[in-house]
Parts: sequence; structure tokens; C-alpha cells
Amino acid sequence: MQNRPIKNICCIGAGYVGGPSMAVIAKHCPEIEVNVVDTNIERINLWNSKNMQKLPIYEPDLDKVLEICRGNNLFFSANIKESIAKADMIFISVNTPTKTKGMGAGYASDLKWIEASARQIGEFSKGHTIVVEKSTLPVRTAETIRSILKSHATLKIPKDTEKKEKTFSILSNPEFLAEGSAINDLENPDRVLIGGSDNESIQKLSNIYKRWINPDKVIETNLWSSELSKLVANAFLAQRISSINSISALCEATGASISEVAKAVGSDKRIGRKFLNAGPGFGGSCFKKDILNLVYLSKFYGLYEVANYWEQIININEWQQKRICELIIKKLYGTISGKKLAIFGFSFKANTNDTRESPSIIISKSLLEEGAILNIYDPRVKDQQIYTAIGSKEVNIFNSAIDAVKEVDAIIVLTEWEEFLLLDWELIFKLMRKPSWVFDSRLCLDKIKLLNIGFNMWTVGSDTEYNF
Ligand code: UDX
Ligand code: ADP
Repeated sequence: MQNRPIKNICCIGAGYVGGPSMAVIAKHCPEIEVNVVDTNIERINLWNSKNMQKLPIYEPDLDKVLEICRGNNLFFSANIKESIAKADMIFISVNTPTKTKGMGAGYASDLKWIEASARQIGEFSKGHTIVVEKSTLPVRTAETIRSILKSHATLKIPKDTEKKEKTFSILSNPEFLAEGSAINDLENPDRVLIGGSDNESIQKLSNIYKRWINPDKVIETNLWSSELSKLVANAFLAQRISSINSISALCEATGASISEVAKAVGSDKRIGRKFLNAGPGFGGSCFKKDILNLVYLSKFYGLYEVANYWEQIININEWQQKRICELIIKKLYGTISGKKLAIFGFSFKANTNDTRESPSIIISKSLLEEGAILNIYDPRVKDQQIYTAIGSKEVNIFNSAIDAVKEVDAIIVLTEWEEFLLLDWELIFKLMRKPSWVFDSRLCLDKIKLLNIGFNMWTVGSDTEYNF
């Protein structure tokens, strides 16, 4: 029975990871039925919208993939029980946020959604099921899943029908997609990591990916290496951002330029050019959570030096955001109380509508605390997301950048949306109060052009005060 090819896949969790990754599998494996299920019916309805603009997540090219397979072999529903029952392979792709209370609060991941998924699988699955961890998880989470599933597994194989036998194998297959480029990352990954001990299950999952990915890119490891590698990959990426951001402050102090330093340093092949863009600090659902997990894990094993080392990356990230707020206040003559400021960009990076851990949240909140009036514009983030993230409706949200700048003292660019570069900056200058400031925390604007128009400008990691 275990030799049957995979015919039916279920994915628990229709979020930023589950949705796109299942869409790409469905596209490349038209003979496999893929059911993506979620308890959030509103989200499921949005996944089923005819109007692709209404999809619950914004991801370039996702609509094209959905057009090929949605309704053919890819289905979004809340039919959790039935979808689990008929699946040969189940991906767990639920949220695992950092715990806010109880043991490990502020560091450990809250695994209640993982546990709930494991219980659902244990209860509703039939026959042999390959359970695949897709969400980013603390190391040894597979042990938790295994122990829950074990209590549901059939120990003796009943003779009457194959379907009654209930067995499981567990694999770890962490997702490395980055939001905003998810479809491209899924179509052309640097590697596919599969951790586990049951070779037959590993091969079945591996064969799915090999339909469109070069077999050399599939890395097989034990479960714990796979779980740990995902945390470490994210920690290394975040480390580069904190490194370059720490140097951005030094550039501002010394007269060096961060883009020149990043180019000079990154040209060394051993270092590489990618992920050296200074900015307002990293956001997103993974980096902070995964480093906190690494810190928690290290402390758990008594490795305090290791924990302290990695924790510094988060400290620098938070410091960068604080530093940017302080310098905005300083440059706006020591007070922003009652001043109107425009925030350009609220998502944690361009090309996504995701605001989880976005630097815009912390920076907006700090500016509000100082008494500023905020006009916020983001091309993709919905008003309610902004209100919820800030925890207040005391901000003005606009549908266009131009509408957001009337009579403001400063524009603070926090997300590198391409449209910001293309705006009519001469018109913007006319609409703003004078002197007019632009704070470019992403180095995404044409500085010379803006200075010529008459703006005062601060750009992250830049040497000179262009304040004439
Ligand atoms: C990340 C990992 O890249 C991905 O492999 C993993 O699966 C999930 O976590 P994601 O959070 O979607 O992906 O986006 P990413 O492009 O990594 O950016 C994370 C944050 O770092 C963003 O806030 C981004 O603006 C910031 N960043 C990135 C920089 O500030 N500078 C850079 O050079 C790169
Ligand atoms: P990610 O970025 O990891 O994809 P999201 O928060 O975008 O995270 O998505 C996770 C999804 O998982 C949410 O839509 C949530 O409703 C869903 N979910 C969580 N627990 C369960 C569960 N037990 N059964 C079904 N869906 C679940």
C-alpha cells in the first residue's frame, strides 16, 4: 500500500506559504488533486474569488498559476475532515507565532496550531499518510507531531480493508520562499530540503519536486538537520541585514556611503552582493521569530554565549528603527508634535501586502507617541490591516501618494515600492509645507533629482547632511 504514488495532497493552512506553494505543486502535477484547507472561511472565500484582485495575499504571478489549476486539480475549502481523509500526503502550513505568554514567552513559538493540525490528522486520516512540516518550526517539533499521531495510529493491520489501517511517516520540508518573489522562488529554488528517516516517503516527496526542479537541488537530511537548517538560514540572512544596518550608522557618522561600502564589500565572491541593502530593519513573519527560536533553543541547552550572539541581531534591528525615529525628530527641529508626516509604504517589503513585523509599525507608533499626525499610503495594504497593526484608528490613510502629502512637513519612505521613484516629485514639493523633508530609509529614490527640486533629504547610510 505504501508504494502507491501520491494521488491526493492536502495542505492545512491557506496562508502566505500554503497558498503559493500548493499552487505551484498543483501546476506541475496535474494528475494530483491538491486541497488547501483553512479554518478561516473568509480567507478561503477570497482564495476562491473570481476577481484575482481579491485574493487574500498579493504575490506577483500568483494569479497566472491559479488560472491554470484552480478548480481543475487545486481546491481551496474549509472541508478539513474530508480533505485529510482522502490525502496520501498532508502538508502542515499553519501559523507559528512567537508565544506572548507562559513558558518561553517572547522567544519560543506557539505551537498550538501545529498541535491542532496534528490532532486533526490523527483523527481524520485513513490509511498511510505522509505528514510534511512546511511551516517554520522550532527544532524537534516533529517529535510533538509524532507523539500525537502515534496515539492515533493503528498498531495492528486489520485484514478486512486497507483503508482502515492508519500509519504515518513524518518529513520536514521547510519552505525558503520570500514574499514578493514567492512564485519565482518556488519555480526556481536554490534547493529543496527534505528531512526524515523513512526513505520511501522521502522519495515520494522528492519525486514531486523533481517534476520541475533539477534533482541535484534536492537535499536529503535527517529531520533535526532540516528543521535547524531553516532557522539557521533565516538567522544568517537577518545577520547580514543587521551587519549592514550597523555599518549604515557608521557611514552617516564618518562620511562614508553605505551603497559604496556594500558594493566594495559585496564584490568579494566569498561575501556576495545580495542582502546587503541597508534599511529600516528587517520585518516579516520569519526572521525575528526564527532568531528568537534559535536563542531559546540555545539557552535550553545551556549555550548562553550562542544565545547572546544571535540575540544581538535583533537588538541591532530594533536599534536601527529607534535611531531612525530619533533622527527624524532631530531634523524636524526637535519636535514633531502636531506636525503632519506622510508615511510611504506600510508592508514589510515591496511587492507584498504582508505587514507582519513591518518596520513601519514600530516607526509609526513611535512618531504617533511624539504627537505627529500621520498620513499613511501603501499601494497594497488594506486600511483595516494598518489600523490593527498600529492598534489605533488615529491615523489618516490615503489611496494615493499624492493625496497623502498635502501640507505635510516630511515624507518618510519605509517600503521600497517602485512607484515611489516614479512619482511626480515636483508636484509633491509644491503640495508640502516648507521646508520639505524626505527621509529615504530604503535608498530607493533619486536623491540628486529631489535635492535639485528643493527637498531637504536624509538617506540611510549617507555621508552628508543635504540641508541647505
Ligand atoms: C525570508 C527568507 O528570505 C525566506 O527564505 C524565508 O522562507 C522566509 O523569510 P521574507 O521574510 O518573505 O523571506 O522576505 P526577505 O526578502 O527575506 O526580507 C525580509 C526583510 O529583510 C524585509 O523586511 C526586507 O525589507 C529586509 N531586507 C532584505 C533588508 O532590509 N535588506 C536586504 O538587503 C534584504
Ligand atoms: P504563513 O505565512 O506561515 O503561511 P499565515 O498566517 O499566512 O502563515 O497562514 C496560516 C494559516 O493557517 C491561517 O490562514 C490560519 O487560519 C490557518 N490555520 C491555523 N491553524 C489551522 C488548523 N488547525 N486547521 C486549518 N487551518 C489552520
